[in-house]
Amino acid sequence: MKILSVVGARPNFMKIAPIIRAVGEHNRAAPDRERIDHVLVHTGQHYDRKMSGVFFEDLGLPDPDVCLGVGSGSHAVQTAETMKRFEEALLNHKPDCVVLVGDVNSTVACALTASKISYNGLPGSAGSRPLVAHVEAGLRSFDRDMPEEINRIVTDHLSDLLFVTEQSGVDNLLREGTGEGGIFFVGNTMIDTLLACRERAGSSPILDTLGLSPGGFALATLHRPANVDSPEKFREILGALDEISRSLAVVIPLHPRTLGRLRETPEGRLAILGGGQGARRDRVNAIGPLSYLDFVCLMANSRIVLTDSGGVQEETTCLGVPCVTVRENTERPVTLTEGTNALAGTSREGIIRVFKRQMNKKFDCAAPRLWDGKAAERIVKVLGEKAAHINHQSKLSS
Ligand code: UD1
Repeated sequence: MKILSVVGARPNFMKIAPIIRAVGEHNRAAPDRERIDHVLVHTGQHYDRKMSGVFFEDLGLPDPDVCLGVGSGSHAVQTAETMKRFEEALLNHKPDCVVLVGDVNSTVACALTASKISYNGLPGSAGSRPLVAHVEAGLRSFDRDMPEEINRIVTDHLSDLLFVTEQSGVDNLLREGTGEGGIFFVGNTMIDTLLACRERAGSSPILDTLGLSPGGFALATLHRPANVDSPEKFREILGALDEISRSLAVVIPLHPRTLGRLRETPEGRLAILGGGQGARRDRVNAIGPLSYLDFVCLMANSRIVLTDSGGVQEETTCLGVPCVTVRENTERPVTLTEGTNALAGTSREGIIRVFKRQMNKKFDCAAPRLWDGKAAERIVKVLGEKAAHINHQSKLSS
């Protein structure tokens, strides 16, 4: 069986890394008929070294076999360009299964391409297209203004195998009419990576570099267009960070979009003065994007995290660090019910209120069900069973 997996943007890398590792382990132990050949495709949605290359190093990812070099663009351009180039990769490699992770534009573009391709010109015939597997399926924010929500819904509805991280994902898929047979509640591969890297992240020099002490700072991340492209919302959020920074140093590694918006915003320039050398108690300290290990080190040592990211809500829950999510909703409700997360919305007042509440709350939570570092193993077990079947079929037809 040949599996082709796809990465494109920053949050994809940590989700795919444990799957590639588990495929290697599977091949070492499995009989020949269950062997899985693996091809890695990088769409190039993220391309800067700090948004992509450094993650390959930190996570020990192999070099991609295929680089599509898609780059930035509007949603339509990025999706269309990925589809065009991915079609060629599929026809060259003819995988039996395409593994897609997360909810970025690369994910939906490859799901559309793989589900409609025909290797033999006979759509619908056996083996004419790959199975599509979606890792992190079923999550819903129920907010269709979020591009990722559209990507999640479309990808799930086109996928044959749906690997789910939390019970809400199973419930959402069943409610939308997905057959039970395609749904596999396996846990969270992003958490597999976090647990595997936590010790190494502990040796990162980032605390010393920034002059921070464990528990003595808040970590913030902001990148959603809905938050940073709206001058009013951006001003409210920056105002909240500024207020927080009067009692607790705030460190904010900047996504390229957020950096661009800051440069355009007079309030931003006033609020964020830091340069990355030594975080000061009374300031919001802006630094460039961090490597995975440096970021995990900061997250694990922070007193509290403020974020609009999806993955960071899950990682803070796993690390037991309080999280304030600067959004009205989350597609990861288990982080609210069983974790350390709370929704704050985007007003200055709302953020400060939830920040204070989270600072005073005692958390004593266990990791959500199956967030145990073994999700990728479970995924590859399912894929291995498919491999045995597909390899048997191709032997019969040769
Ligand atoms: C994408 C995902 C989002 C994810 C985020 C993580 C979609 C719809 N969104 O958003 O779900 O949380 O990645 O970062 O797929 N840029 C660079 N260098 C890069 C990549 C991007 O400078 O390597 C800049 C470009 O100006 C680009 C902008 O960042 O236009 C946005 O990049 P894009 O890939 O469109 O989406 P993200 O906002 O990063």
